[in-house]
Amino acid sequence: MVKIGLLGCGTIGSGVVELLAKEACHRNGLSIEKILVRNKDKHNNKPYGSKLTNRFEDILKSDIDIVVEVMGGIDPAYFYVKQSLLKGRHVVTANKDLIAKFGNELQKIARQNGVRLLFEASVGGGIPIIKPLSECLAVNSISEVKGIVNGTTNFILSRMANSGMTYEAALKEAQQCGYAEANPEADVMGFDAARKLAILSSIAYRSNVDYEDIYIEGINNISADDISIAKYLGCSIKLLALSRRTEKGIMARVAPVLLRNTNPLAGVADVYNAIIVKGDAVGDVLFFGQGAGKLPTASAVVGDIFDIVRHSLGNRCQVSSYEEEAPTAKVDMEGCSSDFFIRIKPRSRVEAMDKIAGLFERFEFVFPDRSKLQRPVDPDQIVFIAYDISEGDIDKRIKSLKATTSVDNVLSILRIEREDQ
Ligand SMILES: NC(=O)c1ccc[n+]([C@@H]2O[C@H](COP(=O)([O-])OP(=O)(O)OC[C@H]3O[C@@H](n4cnc5c(N)ncnc54)[C@H](OP(=O)(O)O)[C@@H]3O)[C@@H](O)[C@H]2O)c1
Repeated sequence: MVKIGLLGCGTIGSGVVELLAKEACHRNGLSIEKILVRNKDKHNNKPYGSKLTNRFEDILKSDIDIVVEVMGGIDPAYFYVKQSLLKGRHVVTANKDLIAKFGNELQKIARQNGVRLLFEASVGGGIPIIKPLSECLAVNSISEVKGIVNGTTNFILSRMANSGMTYEAALKEAQQCGYAEANPEADVMGFDAARKLAILSSIAYRSNVDYEDIYIEGINNISADDISIAKYLGCSIKLLALSRRTEKGIMARVAPVLLRNTNPLAGVADVYNAIIVKGDAVGDVLFFGQGAGKLPTASAVVGDIFDIVRHSLGNRCQVSSYEEEAPTAKVDMEGCSSDFFIRIKPRSRVEAMDKIAGLFERFEFVFPDRSKLQRPVDPDQIVFIAYDISEGDIDKRIKSLKATTSVDNVLSILRIEREDQ
């Protein structure tokens, strides 16, 4: 019998309870012994009622083999996970906040105590990505990881693109459908995606990528005009989490980008997630599936439990997704270059166009054919694409543009994902 202690029984925890009731789990001798919650009254009349506790000590006191943390947040999850590892318990967690901040330290504690810390569900919900990246692709030198890893923002951008609605209206709908929190900041500002990118990049490049070093832009300034003109250009706007190995270190950023419709990520809609990994031996590999939700995420959690049962219990081992003593990665954006989609509000149209021509060597004005736009856009704006500008340079040129009297306001600066990279 393999005894499991569950920390948390909300959306994901209740999914884990449901999946562990399946026949295959009984066959493997999996059994939930204790379930830690904050408020036992909330779980009245549930079939697992007799297993509930609100004291963490009850989990550690019993002879539990695997602790499953599905509470979320850092405090007290960090303390509980650390204590569980120190007491020789394997841990499975779905908590990206915890892994992005303390993954390295907790892996080290796990190794020192001969147990495993698995976190497949922390990135991409139900999509198996952590194990393939750390094990199946281990022989590859990974040069790039990119993907759509936040379902909430993808839902909002999909609704804006499909129905022409504003950002505010799409966010409200996402909240009504339960896809966005009442305070949506972590999702729409790109923080959630950056935590997931830090986890993926740390594993891919075998170095410790700190999410606080990642360049982040959210989707909160994307307007219906951006979406409409992008569509006219044959592109979709997506919040792209991207990291790349460069000569100067690791480039890592989360930002909304224009993706040409031929790009496999452009068609990833609604709450779906997709990640492309580029390896020197394997080439491009695409992972696609449901990035959140009760059963998809619980499926990844239970997959980790099976992994421990099959490969580690009774035979304590030290397999780890994070490199032992991983060096801290140098995260550098300056040297990378992109193409940029830029919209400005001019005071004097002719003078502003002249200024653009003087500031950007390779550029192209966009004059959308109104009859082909999804919805009417403000006619009093200048749209242009500037090619191949370094991240260090774009700020300087935009500052010069803003400083001229012919420009009233810079409305949008969005990167265009290049096909050749
Ligand atoms: N929801 C998703 O689609 C999804 C997808 C991927 C990953 N995740 C991750 O999975 C984790 C859980 O998410 P969730 O959506 O299931 O959260 P949730 O629905 O809010 O459930 C949290 C559970 O943890 C318990 N809990 C919270 N703080 C506690 C404390 N201090 N002491 C004891 N129990 C405590 C709560 O107890 P009560 O029941 O008494 O309130 C509740 O049962 C998070 O790390 C999240 O990021 C979620």
